[in-house]
Amino acid sequence: MKSTIVLLGPPGSGKGTQGEKLCSEFGYVKLSTGDMLREAVKNQTELGMKAKQYMDSGALVPNDLIIGLMKEKIAAADGKVILDGFPRTIEQADALSGQLDVDLALNLDVKDEELIKRITMRRSCPSCNAVYHLIYNAPKTEGICDKCGSRLYQRDDDTEATVLNRLSTYREKTMPLIGYYESRGKLVTIEGTGTIDEIFEKVRKAIQ
Ligand code: AP5
Repeated sequence: MKSTIVLLGPPGSGKGTQGEKLCSEFGYVKLSTGDMLREAVKNQTELGMKAKQYMDSGALVPNDLIIGLMKEKIAAADGKVILDGFPRTIEQADALSGQLDVDLALNLDVKDEELIKRITMRRSCPSCNAVYHLIYNAPKTEGICDKCGSRLYQRDDDTEATVLNRLSTYREKTMPLIGYYESRGKLVTIEGTGTIDEIFEKVRKAIQ
């Protein structure tokens, strides 16, 4: 089984959802830059205050704020690792390659119309970072996290206008990573439309 996996794919393609399933089924540790940054914003740390303006506009947080943070988290992680949302630029990928070998870059391919539907109806848990969808993956009790009982919220960057900016940022800055990992023989692309469990079956095969 692959021990270091990078999850690639546009916003809303299901990186967090599939990453969570890999953690609970196969014991991976998931490092999500988006979750780390949202935590920093919530706690109003220096990083959070610098990052918020970029996140709210759908831009990437500058590499110098992210690379050092991720290097520390990766160094501290024990066991099989999933990187969700990192790297997101060629510069980040080069920095990562100096620290550890990526065994698999798993690219979830989903069309824009579906991404917008998914993101604008997503609800997130501020405590345990679980994600739901009002139609496709609704919590058992409306507005409440199944896992920890916290009240769910809608992310500030989950509006349609910001999603369009996030998609264009993705195309410009992150899509080049598809070629980057393909040329290194690490890329597997999965068609990411279908039920969460259907996608997970494909993910399960890809990581063997
Ligand atoms: P981040 O939190 O990483 O956002 P993202 O990449 O835009 O990805 P999302 O979290 O929106 O989506 P996802 O692919 O995880 O999908 P999910 O599983 O939730 O980053 C946020 C911001 O932080 C960035 O914009 C940037 O500013 C900054 N940032 C983060 N990392 C950075 C970095 N490395 N460098 C610089 N800046 C960085 O699913 C989405 C929805 O769809 C959910 O509602 C879910 O329930 C539903 N769903 C999932 N799968 C399915 C399915 N198969 N069918 C139907 N619905 C589904």
